Amino acid sequence: MEGIEYSDSRPVSPEEYTALLETTTLGERRPLDDPGRVALMLRNASLTITAWRGGELVGIARTVTDLAYCCYLSDLAVRGDLQRQGIGRELIRQVQRRLHPKAKIILLAAPQARGYYPRLGFTQHGSAWTLGASEAL
Ligand SMILES: CC(C)(COP(=O)(O)OP(=O)(O)OC[C@H]1O[C@@H](n2cnc3c(N)ncnc32)[C@H](O)[C@@H]1OP(=O)(O)O)[C@@H](O)C(=O)NCCC(=O)NCCS
Repeated sequence: MEGIEYSDSRPVSPEEYTALLETTTLGERRPLDDPGRVALMLRNASLTITAWRGGELVGIARTVTDLAYCCYLSDLAVRGDLQRQGIGRELIRQVQRRLHPKAKIILLAAPQARGYYPRLGFTQHGSAWTLGASEAL
């Protein structure tokens, strides 16, 4: 899409992140009511690609990665009225470009995006597991 600039270094404030996610269905799945936690999510992400139109944040791919082996794609979001115009795909391409060629991008799809990743060429993995930080071991 024309007029969109991508960046791997432009800082994102919790307010900008929250305003973007509130235009998407991902908003209800992220702790937007806890700005301190959002600030930590943004600060401690290791590779974050952002999409901007003018001065406005319109897309984000926020990852935790070692750049060499694995890259957990924690958030992928595109502003509601700009979806399905190629921004999401380009955000993932920009992530890919910064990784070792043998590294893998890993994610857990939100229910509304289950059909998206196979369309892009992702392979489904049957052995993904999660454990809450407060769950007893
Ligand atoms: C999912 C999301 C990031 C995709 O970004 P996008 O910029 O809208 O998607 P793209 O334009 O890159 O789409 C690429 C292709 O996937 C299709 N597609 C987009 N969203 C889709 C969806 N939810 N399900 C199935 N296909 C989808 C597009 O039509 C396009 O198809 P084409 O190649 O035939 O033209 C975006 O729609 C979004 O922010 N959704 C709400 C938040 C969300 O669910 N995020 C994912 C969390 S895991």
